[in-house]
Amino acid sequence: MRNVTLEDVFVHPITQRHLKRSGIAHAIAVAEYAFMLSKKYGVNPDHAAKAGLLHDVGHYNWYREGKWDYELYKENDIHAIKGASRAHKLLIRIGEERHVAKEIAVAILLHTDSYLPKGELQLKPLQQVVNLADEADEEIGGNHHYKVIEDHVALERIRVLDKQIDHWINKNQTKEIV
Ligand SMILES: [Fe+2]
Ligand SMILES: [Fe+2]
Repeated sequence: MRNVTLEDVFVHPITQRHLKRSGIAHAIAVAEYAFMLSKKYGVNPDHAAKAGLLHDVGHYNWYREGKWDYELYKENDIHAIKGASRAHKLLIRIGEERHVAKEIAVAILLHTDSYLPKGELQLKPLQQVVNLADEADEEIGGNHHYKVIEDHVALERIRVLDKQIDHWINKNQTKEIV
């Protein structure tokens, strides 16, 4: 049994507000990739999907004279730090277990190496899964942030993921997962 479903996280006004900035379609795609990868890496699919969904909630719009300035963004971005903190606060608020909220927040913190020394971190499996899931949906020039999805399609995909997660948890109750 889960305290909090993916739908609980997705429909919350805080999630909606921040995901609209970084792209709901990208967030859902990363949640789906993270769910798929979780099986290969032996991590809890619920934690992977939630971290995937929330990984970019820390984004800020880097506009200069009405246009996204990629250089300005690269120089000043801390979206993973902000996102980790935001996601943690939100998850605790809606009733997530503290250790789960922490694991998800740390995976969000480490999902990008834009400000970290490359290759010097030993990522844990959940962190690796979120990192790979994000890369799997990446498009040139940050276009993945601008993909469009209709509201009812977004909610339907979240509900499908919730069903798949519940099914997996029911089937693997005795299995050791991280
Ligand atoms: Fe990101
Ligand atoms: Fe992303």
